[in-house]
Amino acid sequence: MLTGAGMSAESGVPTFRDAQTGLWANFDPMQLASEEGFRANPSLVWDWYASRRDKMRAVQPNAGHVALARFAKQHPGRVGIVTQNVDDLHQRAGSEGVIRLHGDILQDTWLERGRCTPSCDMARAVPGSPPRCAACGNLVRPGVVWFGEMLPADALAQAESLAERCDVMLVVGTSGSVYPAAGLAHRARRAGAKVMIVNPEPSEIDDEAHVLLRGTAAHLLPALLDMN
Ligand code: APR
Repeated sequence: MLTGAGMSAESGVPTFRDAQTGLWANFDPMQLASEEGFRANPSLVWDWYASRRDKMRAVQPNAGHVALARFAKQHPGRVGIVTQNVDDLHQRAGSEGVIRLHGDILQDTWLERGRCTPSCDMARAVPGSPPRCAACGNLVRPGVVWFGEMLPADALAQAESLAERCDVMLVVGTSGSVYPAAGLAHRARRAGAKVMIVNPEPSEIDDEAHVLLRGTAAHLLPALLDMN
């Protein structure tokens, strides 16, 4: 299972590239989702993520998240979920062991990764926009993967291994425009898996699909996965 922003759209979380409604239709991704952008204007970026966090805390998993969590429980050890999403809606729906390729918006981390000493304590960071380390002044940044940054190596390795071992890869709600995540469908197909795509619109990886289902996550996943 590979999910993208469309998985959370019906929960009220905006996608990135949908025309008009997508975040990148209204904001400059390099200004807001890159290390350079953060260094250039830390408070603008911090406040933008803070507002997204508040929105994500206020929404609920949709019927698609719930159907997937239930299906995984009915088939223990048979379902792996890889997500590009930085929200926690899969987890709040009850899905376990979700592999997060692009980080977690509800987690903080330090800007200067290698600079911290034992006296650097995130919990005692000096409040501000963004907060900073009380011991060394290191800035706090959201725990997400920004453009130009490497994905967490362990998460990517787990995702690639799942893609190579799965019988069916269900791809839901991604434009397939961001690599290496988008490459997982090709990897699965090449390894002999059947690839199914759920998306109301064409995506950049439709050619990898054996089955294309034109519809939304909250409508199609319950129909597809509800065994009762
Ligand atoms: N159900 C299923 N799919 C949907 C729905 C829905 N309700 N609504 C929209 N979609 C589809 C769109 O048609 C689009 O193809 O979801 C896709 C969303 O694509 P993007 O906005 O590009 O999101 P995603 O593919 O997850 O982006 C990948 O890019 O900006 C970065 O790091 C960010 O993880 C993100 C990555």
